[in-house]
Order: sequence, then structure tokens, then C-alpha cells
Amino acid sequence: MAINVNIRQASPNVGAFVEGVDLADEMDAGTVSQLREALGAHGVLFFRDQNLTPDQHIAAAERFGQIDINRFFAHVDGFEKIAEVRKEPEQKANIGGGWHTDHTYDQIPAMGSMLLARETPKLGGDTLFASMFAAYDTLSDGLKATIEKLNAVHSSRHVFGKKARYKDRGEDLGGRLMNPELAQQDAVHPVVIRHPISGKKVIYVNPGFTLRFEGMTDQESQPLLQTLYAHCQNQAFVYRFQWAPGSIAFWDNRATWHYAVNDYQGERRLMHRITVEGEAVAA
Ligand code: SIN
Repeated sequence: MAINVNIRQASPNVGAFVEGVDLADEMDAGTVSQLREALGAHGVLFFRDQNLTPDQHIAAAERFGQIDINRFFAHVDGFEKIAEVRKEPEQKANIGGGWHTDHTYDQIPAMGSMLLARETPKLGGDTLFASMFAAYDTLSDGLKATIEKLNAVHSSRHVFGKKARYKDRGEDLGGRLMNPELAQQDAVHPVVIRHPISGKKVIYVNPGFTLRFEGMTDQESQPLLQTLYAHCQNQAFVYRFQWAPGSIAFWDNRATWHYAVNDYQGERRLMHRITVEGEAVAA
């Protein structure tokens, strides 16, 4: 039976709240495609009060594609498909505490991630989402034309590898990240891609995983990358989502960046993340 889904925009440029859906329930194909369209239109969908078991969380994500098992995050015990995004009261560094898009280092990057809040701090621990549709749309025609000719190199090595930058910063992510020897992925993608669902153009570089433009050194690439990054963080393109246990954010990695705010020292935050496979991205 078709259900009555209400989709309410969270902000002018990014995010929408989905009401009337219990992700633990069966879902007809029409509702799945309505949610997929909404994801394409808004970049991230928010659901409240989804107290799913791990199996229900997996089943909810599998409606949108195969699960992409993350090789670097610790898993929830007994559930390899669910990555744990955790910070204990005594830990200082968080996971995802900088602007990024998941898995751009893969040749075939992940479509999206479905993050479910299990334990949240009393205050803080929000996640910011930025629209890469809006960021592209508001560039000058000259800069659009310049970046549309470029490809960029993305890598997992400096984030998850044996020489990851967080180690140089002295951050302790012990027990939360694993398999540094598997961080060997590099991928080249167009700097501007056509979004696979909406067909709109989006900026597809991010401060977390992009190293340089193809054919240039890291250093030569920095001025233009930093110009783009400063533009993409414009507050007009950003929505700040406040979590509660049972909240879900389901974001499209091809349309958004995200940033986990680390402002809850001394408290625990525990999230379960499932990543859904995508397709090759193209200009
Ligand atoms: C992530 O970057 O995938 C985690 C985001 C969050 O914990 O809010």
C-alpha cells in the first residue's frame, strides 16, 4: 500500500525533512522512487524517531542500492555492513570533523550514506551539510568554464593510510579506524559532474580527499582549490542538522559535503553509518 509521505524543505538550498515514513516498515517501489527523487532534489533527507534495529537499518539502506562496506571504520559488532562513528568522553578528536564527501577516492564512488544516531550529547555534535548544486550555480560563468575542463585526483592515503595526516597532528583515533595498509585508492574524477539523479551540474572536489588537479602539482592546485572551497562553504549553501537518538540523515555524496562538528568534549556520541554503492561519475 502506498504511504503518504510529506517532504518539507529544511533550508533554501539543502536538506529536507521526510515525515510519515517509518523506515522499519515495508516500502512500496513508488515510495522508494519518491525518496530517491527527493534525495536528488535536496541532497540530504532527514528522518526523526527511527529506532531501527541494525538489521532494519541495513534493510532500509538496501532499498537504495548495494551496501558499500567501509574498510577503514570499525564495524558494529556482528554487523560488517554498519560502520561505527563513535567518540568517547575521554577522546578529543572526532571522525568526520572537516568538510568532506565520503569515498571520492574510489573509482566508483559511493552514492550516499545513511547515518543513524544511537547516542547524542546533551548539546552539540551537529552535522553541517553544504549543497554542491548551489555552489556550482552561483559561480561566475568564467570560473564555471575554467573548472569544467579540469579533472581532480582524490586519495584515501593521507586520510586513512599509514602516514595519515591525523597521526602528524597527534590525534588519537585509536580503535576507531583500521586497515591503514588498505588505503591505496586514488581516483580521478571531473571537477564538475552531472548529478546522476537530477542531471544538474555539481562541484565534485572536497577538502577531505581531493589532492590536486590532474596534470598539476599539489602546490599549483592549491590556489584554485582553496578559492572553490571558500565559495562552497558559504553559509547560504549550508544547513546545520541537530541530532537526537533515532534521527537519520541520508545524504547524497554526489550533491553535498558534510562536516561533523566537534563541540561536545567529555560526552559520548555514537552513530551507525551505512554507505550505499554508487556509479561512475561523469561530466
Ligand atoms: C561522517 O563524516 O560520515 C560522520 C558524520 C557525523 O558523524 O556527523
